[in-house]
Amino acid sequence: MTRTFDTIILGAGAAGLFCGARAGERGQSVQVLDHAAKPAEKVRISGGGRCNFTNIHTRPANFICENPHFAKSALARYTPWDFCDRVARHGLTWTEKTLGQLFCDQRSGAIIKLLMDEFEAAGGTLTLSTTIGAVTHADSQFVVETSAGAYTARNLVVATGGLSIPKMGASAFAYDLARQFDHAIVPTRPALVPFTFSGQLKESFADLSGVACPVDAKAERGPDFHEAMLFTHRGLSGPAMLQVSSYWRETEAVEIDLLPGQSVADLLADAKAAAPKQALSTWLGGLFPARLAQQIAAWPSIPATKQLANLSKQDITAIADALGHWKIVPTGTEGWRTAEVTAGGVDTDGLSSKSMESKTVPGLYFIGECVDVTGWLGGYNFQWAWASAAACAGALA
Ligand code: FDA
Repeated sequence: MTRTFDTIILGAGAAGLFCGARAGERGQSVQVLDHAAKPAEKVRISGGGRCNFTNIHTRPANFICENPHFAKSALARYTPWDFCDRVARHGLTWTEKTLGQLFCDQRSGAIIKLLMDEFEAAGGTLTLSTTIGAVTHADSQFVVETSAGAYTARNLVVATGGLSIPKMGASAFAYDLARQFDHAIVPTRPALVPFTFSGQLKESFADLSGVACPVDAKAERGPDFHEAMLFTHRGLSGPAMLQVSSYWRETEAVEIDLLPGQSVADLLADAKAAAPKQALSTWLGGLFPARLAQQIAAWPSIPATKQLANLSKQDITAIADALGHWKIVPTGTEGWRTAEVTAGGVDTDGLSSKSMESKTVPGLYFIGECVDVTGWLGGYNFQWAWASAAACAGALA
């Protein structure tokens, strides 16, 4: 038996459910299919269980994409405040944490309930635990073969997300389907992911495991991120490093300013005026957590035992360089196992920025994380899920 709908959506995550609700409200009959046993599991684990559902500072510049203009239209037409209005209408409240990040006070389950309530109220049908097989397109109809039989529709929306966290059911489905319909894929890589190191650096970072400090950090081709860095048993994590990881490529260096916004020369001049006999190592101990200060004191460019009064100009330049431009080359990242998102994906060159529709296959749409649009840490990825889903739903014929 083949069931026919106006629109089939593959993937019952943030983007798929949101798109389904908006399409249903426009009078479309909608079938969402997913291989998982429960919908929107990534929403559930997001934001440490509180779902950082948007960021009020959302700008196109907060997204990585081969075409930096692609996300502009969808983001402008569905803003963080549009989603906040929806959250408020469901009687939910939020708290702004740092940097415009909005977290749901009622926890992430309440956001899933919002998505499901709206989807069901709009008349959508959700079928879970379904393996998706062949997808074909003929006579302006898509046919989706599944373990639960065949479904047909004139619109097919692909919202199966990226490759991060395979144990949660992440798959390359969207990329394979895109290739099947001759769409290009921007090479994928784990993003928002901790860095790993080997050898001496790994050992010294393991000794510092649990130590955190504010830094300015950047990859060779990315912007500066002023956030916290965390030392771990395997390397470096914390928001600053997760952000940098999205821009990092293998063999490239990461540059870290351990005293962000401060001039080492000025700090040393003040300290020298107040306590000229103080050893440099003692000064470091006043600036950094003890274990980190100890390690920095052992760096070759740091004359740790010298008194502040005896530091030469060259010493001060070397100290400023070591602390302000600490360059290290990660061995790799923790990979798909822990990456929060996938950078790269379905090439936006083949999609309409207004509707997310394929430029070559009418009725085929890609939304959410499977598209080559990757948000920064802090609610941007859900905002892209909502905005791309809304753009698509508004265009479905
Ligand atoms: P999503 O991955 O949510 O959904 C895809 C759906 O497709 C899933 O239900 C999956 O089962 C299904 N699927 C996949 N392959 C399939 C196949 N072959 N057949 C059938 N179904 C298939 N973002 C943010 O903005 N704020 C936050 O707080 C967080 N926190 C966070 C924490 C952690 C630990 C992770 C891993 C990620 C985040 N994110 C986040 C990122 C955010 O979760 C992510 O960007 C969105 O969930 C993407 O939504 P999508 O709907 O595109 O994909």
